Amino acid sequence: MSTPGESTPAHWDAAYTAGDTTRGWYQSQATMSLHLIESTDLPATSSIVDVGSGASVLVDDLLAAGYSDITCMDHSPIGLQVARDRLGDRAHDVDWIVADLLTWQPPRTYDIWHDRAVLHFLLDEADIAAYRRTMLAGTHVGSWLVLGVFGPEGPQMCAGLPVRRYDDTGIDALLGGDFTRTERIVVDHVRPDGDTQQYLWTLARRDR
Ligand SMILES: C[S@@+](CC[C@H](N)C(=O)[O-])C[C@H]1O[C@@H](n2cnc3c(N)ncnc32)[C@H](O)[C@@H]1O
Repeated sequence: MSTPGESTPAHWDAAYTAGDTTRGWYQSQATMSLHLIESTDLPATSSIVDVGSGASVLVDDLLAAGYSDITCMDHSPIGLQVARDRLGDRAHDVDWIVADLLTWQPPRTYDIWHDRAVLHFLLDEADIAAYRRTMLAGTHVGSWLVLGVFGPEGPQMCAGLPVRRYDDTGIDALLGGDFTRTERIVVDHVRPDGDTQQYLWTLARRDR
């Protein structure tokens, strides 16, 4: 059973069991993520980790674009299983990791750290600091951060959970002088039910 109002693996497992179009964050193509990843001009052999990937189709889009070193990680085993089932044999070309971002010790560093709609579920400063520690452990100087979080006019709740809305100051605090922002895009995500949610996208390069 999931605990209402808590971002536990059971909560997310239940959301993924309910089906694709019941999820507000569902998208049939990860267009903005792919656009920003391709904007880095890194070769397709570069390593990419999609943190809190759940059942996202980004992995499908990356494989189709020729990327060959992809890791999907999430604390929801069901979310990852939905993606693996969808990919069939192609799932063998991807690394799958079930872990909690707040305590995960990345086994390597990645050239690209991608997060869509994960960070904004962290409300406590201590949890955001833990996320940042994991992000620094999972990247190196020269790595890129591709981040999509709710913008200043984004929703206050999503997936039955309270969320944090980010403005430039919040993003700057996360980057903390270790990353330099090269792109900032505000765009509405159209949910399967037709509602829209404002996202603030960031592309940033780690330079220390
Ligand atoms: C709104 S969904 C977004 C999923 C995916 N990034 C996408 O764009 O479709 C949030 C995801 O973050 C995952 N998540 C939340 N907190 C997490 C944590 N502490 N560690 C790992 N994954 C987490 C959830 O399981 C869920 O898959």
